[in-house]
Amino acid sequence: MKTIVFALSCIVACCLAAPQGPNPQDVQLVRYVNNQDQDQQGGYQFTYELSDGQIRSETGALKDVGEERVIIVQGAYTFVGPDGQIYWVNYTADENGFHPVIGTGPEGGIKPGQDQGIDPNALKSLVG
Ligand SMILES: *[C@@H]1O[C@H](CO)[C@@H](O)[C@H](O)[C@H]1NC(C)=O
Repeated sequence: MKTIVFALSCIVACCLAAPQGPNPQDVQLVRYVNNQDQDQQGGYQFTYELSDGQIRSETGALKDVGEERVIIVQGAYTFVGPDGQIYWVNYTADENGFHPVIGTGPEGGIKPGQDQGIDPNALKSLVG
């Protein structure tokens, strides 16, 4: 009897500890934007939002660095962790590597309905 009670309490504890987010199979695509090569220079921009709070948006453009052509990327993503907390990452990637800025909470990250824009400073460096 003790064994059964112990086994049942383990099952209950496991269920209570499981992440409380939506079932992954129930997650819906809420918004999707995809702009390929609108500048005719190989650039792109895309965004998607899911019903579980995930958002990802990224823009990329080609840039000549000396003899090389590199892709300059700016992006942001956010998601709700199993602890219910909002996590976000903003990043750029260029000829010098990947540069993330990481935070938590409702402020600072990309918001629903928002698309990653191109930073005017990045544009300046593309022209220059
Ligand atoms: C992160 O990126 C989003 C989308 O571009 C922007 O609105 C937000 O201000 C950025 N946050 C920081 C801390 O730079």
